[in-house]
Amino acid sequence: MRVGAGRLRRRQNLGYAVGAVAGTLALVALLLPVREAWLARGPMNSGHEALTCEVCHRPAPGTLRQQLQANLRHLAGWRRTSADFGREDVTNETCLACHERPDDRHPVYRFLEPRFAKARAALAPQRCESCHREHRGVRITLAETGYCTNCHEDTRLRRDPVDVSHEQLIAADRWVTCLGCHDFHGNHVMQTATLLADARTPARVRAYFDGGASPYGTERRHPARKEPRRD
Ligand code: HEC
Ligand code: HEC
Ligand code: HEC
Ligand code: HEC
Ligand code: HEC
Repeated sequence: MRVGAGRLRRRQNLGYAVGAVAGTLALVALLLPVREAWLARGPMNSGHEALTCEVCHRPAPGTLRQQLQANLRHLAGWRRTSADFGREDVTNETCLACHERPDDRHPVYRFLEPRFAKARAALAPQRCESCHREHRGVRITLAETGYCTNCHEDTRLRRDPVDVSHEQLIAADRWVTCLGCHDFHGNHVMQTATLLADARTPARVRAYFDGGASPYGTERRHPARKEPRRD
């Protein structure tokens, strides 16, 4: 059936209008990803199931309109930096607001020193996220073995209390045993074993990394806060 010229034009106009609306909606969706499509990217890690999104993804400063204007000015070259849309980035500070431990034996800030350049390239140990990637449904996202080697190859104890000395363990590449006797942050209240036979098995450590029960017991020096410390 032939379509009259007038009707065709009306249809085309309608087509343009629909296209324009769809285009605007797509642009809005693009510019407002966190407002309109704010879906978790995977299951929360162990212990975080009950947290709200906002404790980690804090609202960025400014209204949405100000953020939009700032980013348009940035695109046009009138502003040097872009602005966070909707939410701030998650940083070490975000985590430390609930997990501050003044006696952490491996505090992240230490690894900014020049002598850790090689370890930084291999592990990025200066960031919580390197070992605890979020939205993975687990507790620790690095392999359970091997990363102590990046910093402890030269570790020697003056009077070694262990039946198989650290020197021997390290020389024999037995890095898989380290977490059998030591936790990483030193936050668990526990006795350090002195017999290699008493070390926790790598399988138990693996299960803990994946979200299972702690092989180091449940007593902590510094329990996690349920609400972030605000300063
Ligand atoms: C314990 C802190 C924490 C909580 C709580 C949290 N997230 Fe995240 N989220 C992160 C981190 C860290 C990243 C960075 C990406 C990664 O680690 O893979 C991230 C990334 C994301 C991303 C990918 C976009 C981006 O900015 O990288 C989305 C989407 C997201 N989270 C949504 C949510 C939603 C929805 C909730 C609530 C159900 C939530 N998150 C709760 C820490 C958290
Ligand atoms: C609002 C406070 C809050 C924030 C922010 C937060 N956490 Fe947690 N986290 C908790 C609580 C509460 C638990 C559960 C602790 C428990 O069971 O003792 C937990 C558990 C954990 C655990 C597992 C501990 C365990 O023994 O089961 C890890 C690892 C962890 N958090 C790392 C992080 C990292 C990395 C970040 C930053 C991306 C972060 N957390 C941000 C409150 C927080
Ligand atoms: C180089 C890897 C690495 C980095 C970086 C790292 N962690 Fe861990 N984290 C681990 C390992 C391994 C464990 C398991 C052993 C243990 O419990 O100490 C762990 C356990 C934890 C636990 C549960 C046990 C506890 O201490 O209460 C929390 C909470 C935690 N990390 C938070 C953090 C936060 C917050 C940061 C950043 C400030 C961070 N981690 C940085 C490797 C890392
Ligand atoms: C990025 C470097 C780095 C990594 C990776 C690392 N350590 Fe350490 N570790 C250090 C530094 C630095 C010290 C402090 C030593 C000092 O004071 O000279 C330390 C100290 C320690 C201590 C003694 C703490 C105390 O209270 O005296 C133990 C135990 C330990 N580390 C075990 C481990 C284990 C187990 C691993 C692997 C799971 C590991 N470390 C991974 C850098 C690292
Ligand atoms: C059988 C248990 C056991 C194993 C396995 C073990 N350690 Fe230890 N480690 C100890 C004990 C006990 C001490 C003495 C201090 C203490 O009580 O924490 C110690 C002390 C340390 C110290 C502190 C050194 C100092 O100057 O005070 C470091 C660092 C360390 N261990 C790293 C490691 C690394 C890396 C591995 C893996 C190659 C490892 N340990 C394996 C039991 C163990």
